[in-house]
Amino acid sequence: MSQWVTINEVGPRDGLQSLGKVLTAEKRLQLIQGLVDCGLSAIEATSFVSPKAVPQMAGAAELYQQLPDTDKVRYAALVPNVRGYTDAKAAGAHTVNVVLSVTDTMNRKNINMSLEQTAQVCAEIMQQAAADQLNGQAYLAVAFECPFEGTVDPQVVTGFAQQMLEAGAKKIIIADTIGAANPAQVTTLLNQLQAVVPMAQVACHFHDTRGMALANVYAALQCGVREFDTAIGGMGGCPFSPGASGNMATEDAVLMLEQMGYQTGISLPQLTQFIGTAEAMVERKLGGHSYNWLKRQYLNDTEQGAHCG
Ligand code: COA
Ligand code: ZN
Repeated sequence: MSQWVTINEVGPRDGLQSLGKVLTAEKRLQLIQGLVDCGLSAIEATSFVSPKAVPQMAGAAELYQQLPDTDKVRYAALVPNVRGYTDAKAAGAHTVNVVLSVTDTMNRKNINMSLEQTAQVCAEIMQQAAADQLNGQAYLAVAFECPFEGTVDPQVVTGFAQQMLEAGAKKIIIADTIGAANPAQVTTLLNQLQAVVPMAQVACHFHDTRGMALANVYAALQCGVREFDTAIGGMGGCPFSPGASGNMATEDAVLMLEQMGYQTGISLPQLTQFIGTAEAMVERKLGGHSYNWLKRQYLNDTEQGAHCG
């Protein structure tokens, strides 16, 4: 059991949200169905946010009510405020995620609240989720570096983790929102965090902006973390970080983990095949570092054949 690593697919939310193209709830459901068919057992399905702020997530309630295989898949809904929580609960969400950016400016830019206000709202939602017997999870965003305020002190992150746990959060997700962390920083932060949160209740969300996401996964694995957020084909990006290459690709993480002997329950041949379908849906090229190799391996794609020299 200790060899199991949970891959939480965030393409349908974090991935799609950063794309210019807006997919209907029906198309997003097709994406989710395809991911379920590949063996994904944890998926961030959508967010209950203002459609004016994030048109890509419009129709969240409609989508939630039609999610496939709800007995097998842990679906999560991101909620930015109490209104979002109420809507998510009404739509039948079992897992709700709040996002507490650990710097003041980031919260103001993201959800128009101060750090103090956001922490309070997130704590209230975590308390309410616990009272409603829902699974409340807290993201600590920009946990290593904020695009506006720079490097973040690990002690600040640890303090908010403790606050969210005390409020009733069942999991703390350390998010490197702009993909700025390196493995040494990951080790430092997780070692400090261990004092307040058992690693079984910690997950990591890495972006691959600087190509260090897999190295950061390795560092987190060494610290005992067994859950990671990824997005199919490395979908996504960060509006605050020009040229950002998106979330860590699901296929990269699964390939590395499986080769290291961990189990994820995800079929790499099916996932490789499905990336092509997802590309057609979002009308843009997708694929992590390993995609060309995976295509040669599983789809007999010789177009990208190996070259010598
Ligand atoms: N779901 C849907 N609509 C919501 C909402 C929610 N959770 N929360 C607020 N709204 C609506 C309000 O009803 C209001 O609608 P109106 O203009 O038709 O009257 C409008 O959004 C603005 O509400 P207000 O309370 O003034 O909030 P705001 O303008 O300060 O915006 C957020 C705050 C959080 C609603 C908005 O910034 C947002 O949805 N951000 C999403 C950010 C996000 O998803 N980030 C990525 C991951 S953290
Ligand atoms: Zn992200």
